[in-house]
Amino acid sequence: QELQMNLEQIVKGGYEHFMLKEIHEQPDAIKDTYRGRLNAKEGLIRMAGIDDNIEKFLNANRIVIIACGTSWHAGLVAEYIFEDLVRIPVEVEYASEFRYRNPVITENDVVIAISQSGETADTLAAIKLAKSKGAFVFGVCNVVGSTIARETHAGAYTHAGPEIGVASTKAFTTQITVLMLIALKLAKEKGSISKSSFHHHLQELELIPGKVKKALKQDEHIKKIAEIYKDAKNCLYLGRGYNFPVALEGALKLKEISYIHAEGYPAAEMKHGPIALIDEHMPVFVIATKKGHYEKVVSNIEEIKARKGKIIGIVTEGDEAVKGLADHVIEVPETLESLSPLLTTIPLQLLSYHIAVLLNRNVDQPRNLAKSVTVE
Ligand code: G6P
Repeated sequence: QELQMNLEQIVKGGYEHFMLKEIHEQPDAIKDTYRGRLNAKEGLIRMAGIDDNIEKFLNANRIVIIACGTSWHAGLVAEYIFEDLVRIPVEVEYASEFRYRNPVITENDVVIAISQSGETADTLAAIKLAKSKGAFVFGVCNVVGSTIARETHAGAYTHAGPEIGVASTKAFTTQITVLMLIALKLAKEKGSISKSSFHHHLQELELIPGKVKKALKQDEHIKKIAEIYKDAKNCLYLGRGYNFPVALEGALKLKEISYIHAEGYPAAEMKHGPIALIDEHMPVFVIATKKGHYEKVVSNIEEIKARKGKIIGIVTEGDEAVKGLADHVIEVPETLESLSPLLTTIPLQLLSYHIAVLLNRNVDQPRNLAKSVTVE
């Protein structure tokens, strides 16, 4: 028994839970994901799976991304990245909807399937359907040799290392990293990105691990915020643009491990419904980083404040405007808007983690959930 306990401690690397360990592994996991692929100095991105199939991507009518859960959120971030940088139309689909709705898909489509485990049944079935229609299917998986990695025509691994906690953390940020690399590579090849913007992206990407590390340093501060809001019955998460999917992911993390009801919304949609829920009992987590619709998000925050909602802002270091309005702010370092999800996600992961621990939840194995859903 004691030996078992010790072993477990060793595997958890001194952390109390796998999830916390995996949250803290993100600076290294992101680095491992671009290592050997990205050479910022020479302005090169090497990815065999893309190099070998570059024409398929560049000639595609559109890219269809299929995934489930957190991987689907990474797909949504990728939609913003690809359309912005590569100028190819992108659709993001839940694998379970795609496979059952007789989708219009042809040999001119490129399908990107994203899956941490590489074993999700719905994603696998969606891949088979896309292949049967002649589409080129590219996999973004974490688990090497997994079924999805084998069933796709080509792919790129995330190199996040094993993810044990049921709630996905480092898989999400490394999926975004891989998808960003792919988009940058295609954009350069296509000429849809300027030379200077391309180089700027590469340089900023290399700074991300250090910035994630800095974001992780807010842990104690975040724990205090968790103590204040741990008894909330409902929470709202808002973000715009690149950070809209982060709002969805923040809400999902809280639901998964704390069992608190939470919803993510694009901030501008608040007025079409969720605003009716806001009163002094409703914590609202707002991603309000400097780049990307900042003024608009600030005015959303004013609307929440007018209705007495509690505001927790995820802001850029040194922010003043949101600090003046919000009940609490959590700072993240500044970066390009397109890379900001890699930073804004971090405090939301930590927040969910601390709330779940304070509520005595089974953080690594939440009730009713499985790490990999291999049934329909
Ligand atoms: C399950 C897990 C989630 C994961 C989802 C998709 O629901 O609990 O954390 O995001 O499956 O899994 P995949 O392995 O395909 O990324």
